[in-house]
Amino acid sequence: MSYQKKILILGGAGFIGSHVVRRFIKKYPNFQIFNLDKLTYAGNLENLKDIEKAENYTFLKVDICDRKTIEQLFKKHRFDTVIHLVAESHVDRSITNPFAFVETNIMGTLNLLHAAQNVWKDSNSEKLFYHISTDEVYGTLEKTGLFTEETPYDPNSPYSASKASSDHFVRAFGETYGLPYIISNCSNNYGPNQFPEKLIPLFINNIINHKPLPVYGDGNYTRDWLYVIDHAIAIDVIFQKGKLGETYNIGGFNEWKNIDLVKILCQQMDDKLNRTAGESEKLITFVKDRPGHDLRYAIDASKIYKELGWKPSVTFEEGLSKTIDWYLQNHAWLKNVTSGDYQKYYEKQYL
Ligand code: NAD
Ligand code: DAU
Repeated sequence: MSYQKKILILGGAGFIGSHVVRRFIKKYPNFQIFNLDKLTYAGNLENLKDIEKAENYTFLKVDICDRKTIEQLFKKHRFDTVIHLVAESHVDRSITNPFAFVETNIMGTLNLLHAAQNVWKDSNSEKLFYHISTDEVYGTLEKTGLFTEETPYDPNSPYSASKASSDHFVRAFGETYGLPYIISNCSNNYGPNQFPEKLIPLFINNIINHKPLPVYGDGNYTRDWLYVIDHAIAIDVIFQKGKLGETYNIGGFNEWKNIDLVKILCQQMDDKLNRTAGESEKLITFVKDRPGHDLRYAIDASKIYKELGWKPSVTFEEGLSKTIDWYLQNHAWLKNVTSGDYQKYYEKQYL
């Protein structure tokens, strides 16, 4: 079969990437979708079991730090669109091992930019390098204000510094070599398939297992939460309608203090597990704060709302309820990803 376009999705075995791959496979049968992933602890092909046999799907197990293989792949397939979701993505891990974040997030991204630029420089057809980034590059907010696309970068963690650097490299390739790019910066995602090191799935797993819920500091840190499928839809909308050279902030105007979010989560879990009201809240334990902990993130998403017509499709209460249901129904997935090295990580981080 000859396809209209070749789309390379990087990091498609991870949390957000798997939702993007699924959406593209189903929505674009005329596009050949390549999913490239190294399958680190965060990458899991179980996330894509339902679509792995689709005709327009190819999986490539490759490390983006392997420059030679990346260049060969770009020469061989001459992809039309690259959607780059690969990253070391957990802030706490970046505090213990910043080197892995520089290697993957900065050097790996540079390898991709270089390979794309090399094969695209003489091409007449439309190309796009779409880089997925985070609101954390903007640093932290006080109690008021929102991050806009014009907010200066001011990253505070090794993770956000590495993401900021990768964003700068993407823009620099646009300015210097004319690489056709778009960047989007999204707020905190939650939903099915998220690795249980991040706040919501970690706490769901701990509630299931009657384990303490480690709230950092006083719990008064604020994050802006978006259901992962709404992020995948936004990525699709930007892929279709985004303007080259632009940045789009993605968020749901949905701010929660950690402690308030955890209490709602506890209530919903008690309800769904038929436990006595208040049982899960008793597991809340205030622990040592994260070093350099950003006080507040909040995205002004009015540009994507107005210019591209995207807005979230589910409320936070609905999204959280669907998320909890998914983890309760996918016990085997949760058990698989929390066996092996997960225990070592957990002990080092929390015990
Ligand atoms: P994730 O950690 O769940 O997935 C990352 C994927 O990248 C995994 O499948 C992993 O195997 C793969 N990977 C890691 N290193 C690799 C390498 N060297 N070569 C090839 N593959 C490699 O991450 P996520 O939460 O799905 O985030 C995806 C992207 O979205 C990241 O760029 C992240 O910075 C960004 N982002 C995440 C959030 C969020 O709340 N999770 C919010 C905004 C932006
Ligand atoms: O804002 C987007 C970013 O959101 C993404 O770029 C990152 O990849 C993603 O990991 C996420 O970063 P955060 O640091 O905000 O997410 P995390 O789930 O680690 O933490 C959310 C909040 O909860 C934060 O204030 C720290 C707090 N926390 C987290 C954990 C894991 C706790 O209080 N206890 C915990 O055990």
